[in-house]
Amino acid sequence: MPPDRTLLDRLNALPAVPFAPGATPVDEPARLRAALGGGPRLLVKRDDAIAFAFGGNKVRKLRLVAARAQAEGADTLITCGGVQSNHARVTAAAAAALGMRCLLVANGVAPDRATANALLARLLGAKIHYVSSRADRAPAMEALAAERIARGERPYVIPLGASTPLGAAALAQAIGELVAQIDPPDVIVHASSSAGTQAGFVAGCRMHGLRTQVIGVSADEPSMVLAGEVRGVLRGIEGLLGASPGVLADARVEVDDGFVGDGYGIPTPASEEALRLCATTEALFLDPTYTAKAMAGLIARVRDGRFTAAQTVLFWHTGGQVGLFA
Ligand SMILES: Cc1ncc(COP(=O)(O)O)c(C=O)c1O
Repeated sequence: MPPDRTLLDRLNALPAVPFAPGATPVDEPARLRAALGGGPRLLVKRDDAIAFAFGGNKVRKLRLVAARAQAEGADTLITCGGVQSNHARVTAAAAAALGMRCLLVANGVAPDRATANALLARLLGAKIHYVSSRADRAPAMEALAAERIARGERPYVIPLGASTPLGAAALAQAIGELVAQIDPPDVIVHASSSAGTQAGFVAGCRMHGLRTQVIGVSADEPSMVLAGEVRGVLRGIEGLLGASPGVLADARVEVDDGFVGDGYGIPTPASEEALRLCATTEALFLDPTYTAKAMAGLIARVRDGRFTAAQTVLFWHTGGQVGLFA
């Protein structure tokens, strides 16, 4: 399929805030490949190296989402996540850099001594409101927004993970960045959780007419649930870009939930091995919640001989390494 120039033009015209906008490096982890006994050519796209607020996929999303908030005249960003949310840290950073206030709704208990993302969110000046469960987060954000509007402020609520069609579109743009750097890989493997990153990659590959297989390794949700959410975001991107229904959402969505283990954020023997192997062979730091489980999925596939030596498999490092200091 040829690239869809009309959709790509609309995608690339979305207003963005220039948080470290340059292309991230693509590295070839030859020592990791050797440690796995060969197999496909491996590449790593280093979004962990984005030079804004310790980087990661959320910076890409916030470039677009914060631009929309600014255009709507917002003076406050409100979002939610776990106590150690990477997305909350990056939202707090975006707010600080744009001179906005930031309110975070975190499910969990206020730590006695804030570490890692929680520490950075505090340093960035975010106000953190704790709720007891994941289900309480969205209503708490709405209540905070209503309170702020009543005070005459202009809050902008960013849903979990900024996995709105607009946030996801940033990852579709990232596919354009990638194909300007290298020949399209046969496979992209990445960590998947709130659906936006995977929807963006799938949409980007589709718009560029690539045959690249995108494998999202789930950090928490069962495959069926997450794949359904990814399709929902794909439909949202179609709406955002004025695409015909099905142009993006009919694409294949592949989610692997075989590496979650006992649950979100709980390490598994395979994720611990992946984390150690990338550090000792490449000085490449993964994070325990997302990227170590995704890399465990990639490693298992290489060991099982599920890729050929002629294939190129790209691991998209979505960041999160701050989580190592929790
Ligand atoms: C480091 C990291 N990788 C991957 C993901 C998954 O991205 P998404 O929520 O868009 O699926 C997240 C966020 O949830 C993350 O923080």
